[in-house]
Amino acid sequence: MHHFIYKDNELYCESVAIADIAKAVGTPFYLYSSATLAHHFNTFDKSFAELSHLTCFAVKSCSNLAILRLFSTLGGGADIVSGGELYRSLKAGIDPRRIVYSGVGKTEEELRYGLVSGILMFNVESEQELEKLQQVAQEQDLVAPVSFRVNPDVDPKTHAYISTGLAKNKFGIPIEQAEKVYLRAKEMSHIKILGVSCHIGSQLTEISPFTETLHKVKQFVSRLETHGISIEYLDLGGGLGVRYQDEKPPHPQEYARALKEEMEGLRCTLILEPGRVIVSNAGILVSQVLYTKRTGSKNFIIVDAAMNDLARPSLYDAHHDILPVIRQSGQAVNEDLEIADVVGPICESGDFLAKDRELPILGQGDLMAVMSSGAYGFTMSSNYNSRPRAAEVLVKDDQFYVIRERENYETLIRDENIPDFLE
Ligand code: LLP
Repeated sequence: MHHFIYKDNELYCESVAIADIAKAVGTPFYLYSSATLAHHFNTFDKSFAELSHLTCFAVKSCSNLAILRLFSTLGGGADIVSGGELYRSLKAGIDPRRIVYSGVGKTEEELRYGLVSGILMFNVESEQELEKLQQVAQEQDLVAPVSFRVNPDVDPKTHAYISTGLAKNKFGIPIEQAEKVYLRAKEMSHIKILGVSCHIGSQLTEISPFTETLHKVKQFVSRLETHGISIEYLDLGGGLGVRYQDEKPPHPQEYARALKEEMEGLRCTLILEPGRVIVSNAGILVSQVLYTKRTGSKNFIIVDAAMNDLARPSLYDAHHDILPVIRQSGQAVNEDLEIADVVGPICESGDFLAKDRELPILGQGDLMAVMSSGAYGFTMSSNYNSRPRAAEVLVKDDQFYVIRERENYETLIRDENIPDFLE
């Protein structure tokens, strides 16, 4: 369910005509619907209402302050993977006691920042990280709350780049070696064991890898109990998929039901780290056609958004639906369809938003929307080819708000210096 709908052949976000936003802020821009964001967050969170749980939104999927604030007003916490994400989350008003810190390579400085901020727990991913955390905690005279991210070696059946819970992936501690690490942590003066965590991958469209993981983790928790280690939090990570094209991912309620069954007999609080399922379909990328080139062998629609704005098609061959903002604009030749590549201005053949796609014929100046771009869209954007990053806009009812200004040439070079010897 989302709030990007046509009214009289014109695409709206809630009650705002997208063309009006384009006129005011220029293109390209990311556009989010606050009603959709809230709906998705609440649907997900309420699916777990019967369980003691905490929904920690995966900040990496969409990290704008305004959006984080929206989730915090709905009772959300945050799953972070860097000091920068911690900074954002705190600035957005997320309660540090609702923040979990994942990631294989936390620096000493980041560990300290998390610790003094009073986050709920660190999801520690190696024995060396544990040693470092103990040292930092001792220096600060604080006790570090930890869970260990275990790698259950479960196949999430998703794209290789975004699968994380297989033995060959860099993430977590192999589950069969983790017991030893827990026993080590138990002896440490400035470490408090709170939980067990895992995250097996992203864009999962089946439930069984989740339940298989939970099953393994449950057995592991019982083993820990025999050593007198009790587990308060069980963090299952994120990963629930969405529909980009013809996938049929389980509804959050179905996912929750399956987990509830598997949680039977466990007295832990469940932590969930959803990203994509909350924001993906709540955001789009709006772009304008610069030129069209119809070469006889190929049709190219050259637009002003590129792989630096949305990396997913180039990086994962990901499919994003493309819709015209005006279904029959003056410039669109007619209602016929054509097969075209939608490409950006970047100097690489890998710069495309869609390949060999059947689309309504688009002409110069037409606006188009790249759908389902709310997750891993803006957050993965870059300045490649010295392109200022796009603006981000949030709609609420009949109003829109620029929640991130478009970058400009000055911001592009703001942090660069020419050393004296070159002056
Ligand atoms: N928790 C941890 C520890 C994670 O590493 C991730 C995602 C999540 C939660 C959230 O997963 P989600 O619910 O969004 O699936 N850039 C890729 C996705 C990378 C996901 C990385 N980790 C893409 O655009 O598909």
